[in-house]
Amino acid sequence: MEYAVRGPIAIRAVELERELANGAQKPFPNVIKANIGDAHAMGQKRITFIRQLLECIANPSSMKIDKTLPSDVIEHANAFIGSCRGNSAGAYSRGTGVEVVRKHVSEYISRRDGGIPSNSEDICLSRGASESIRNVLKLFINRNNSIYRNKKKVGIMIPIPQYPLYSATIGEFGLGQVGYYLREVSNWSLDEAELERSFNGHRKEYDIRVLCIINPGNPTGQVLSRENIETIIKFAHKKKLFLMADEVYQDNVYAQGSEFHSFKKVLVEMGEPYSKLELASFHSVSKGYMGECGMRGGYVEFLNLDPEVYALFKEMISAELYSTVLGQAVIDAVVNPPKEGEPSYALWKKERDAVLASLKERATLVEKAFSSIDGISCNPVQGAMYAFPQITIPQKAVEIAQSRNQHPDFFYAMELLESTGICVVPGSGFGQRDGTYHFRTTILLKPELFKDMLARFTDFHAKFLAQYK
Ligand SMILES: Cc1ncc(COP(=O)(O)O)c(C=O)c1O
Repeated sequence: MEYAVRGPIAIRAVELERELANGAQKPFPNVIKANIGDAHAMGQKRITFIRQLLECIANPSSMKIDKTLPSDVIEHANAFIGSCRGNSAGAYSRGTGVEVVRKHVSEYISRRDGGIPSNSEDICLSRGASESIRNVLKLFINRNNSIYRNKKKVGIMIPIPQYPLYSATIGEFGLGQVGYYLREVSNWSLDEAELERSFNGHRKEYDIRVLCIINPGNPTGQVLSRENIETIIKFAHKKKLFLMADEVYQDNVYAQGSEFHSFKKVLVEMGEPYSKLELASFHSVSKGYMGECGMRGGYVEFLNLDPEVYALFKEMISAELYSTVLGQAVIDAVVNPPKEGEPSYALWKKERDAVLASLKERATLVEKAFSSIDGISCNPVQGAMYAFPQITIPQKAVEIAQSRNQHPDFFYAMELLESTGICVVPGSGFGQRDGTYHFRTTILLKPELFKDMLARFTDFHAKFLAQYK
């Protein structure tokens, strides 16, 4: 199992920070961590409404003492606490999550999807989306016909490039990775011919049962069009695949003309037979405008899941003793934010809009900056929190990397780190077409820091090309 986002380059970045703190001389004054999509770690401001709600839920006596707390925060907090066992966030929640939060999640989904019903019984809350994604993948571990009897493993189709949680979990669970390439030339879109090629190329080896989609994409930043989603749904129907839609960046859409369409909405609107497909879709409090990664809140909504399988799923998560209750409180704040006319509304809206406007600005800034460097091309960052530029690596550098048993873009990213202090994730950690090289950078850096990063990067890149030409 390998998880590139926290791999050797990220580890070396932490070491370099320590060396600098201990007075070591380096060609750079500080380490710039452009490797992770962790908004608060990059200095993003907390959303007041979310933190006030947490304060009340964690310490209910503050509601009596702190006279500055808005009345709607207190109402939200009391409704939440009233739904906790023993009226305390310190109690285990039900297996699927605090009841009132599940209800608010289903109302949120229905609002988002233009009124398409959502049933709170189909929603399970979890420690971030990761836990739900892993638990759904766990359903496909089939010990009877895979590793133990040496027959076909269950195959899981994932995009390439992909978020490495998928490849790591597939490896850990003994499943089979069936990669389908996103088309870089058409802004990382997905085409049916490629899905067919990938499916047919792996069907002998694997019993392919699942198709995973990440929309908006990580690391690629694309937002799938509705037509593209319909094509994927038709393909999943044709091949009888279970759909997993990772939609954790649903609030992070920046490009003009791009719009988020949930898989659930499109699938239901397509009508039968497509509306009968099995679907699990995921959301999280880690991204969007709130960026509350450390709180660990997420959920899965199931559609058309076999009731017997769902019963087993719930039993399985019960055995893990449920997800964090304060994380569920953050989900509640996200899916049931202040409404117009309530005391917290104006500040909440101002803070949310400011974060999203700033991310939008940075998405354009990052794309334009990298596209303007010789030997680098960068697709528009339509959504999510990353750019995934393609870099030209001279043959001499490729050969040196290979002689060290390293991917060429790993070699590049390590040289970049050692020379400039900039930490990015090499494209090989996400997967990419053979012979192409990329890196992933977050767009979360503050503009001043990004300017600094760009100056260091441009200088390094020119020197790297000259050195290995
Ligand atoms: C595409 C994607 N899915 C899932 C996750 C996991 O999110 P969480 O923090 O909710 O577990 C991430 C985190 O970066 C992600 O980028």
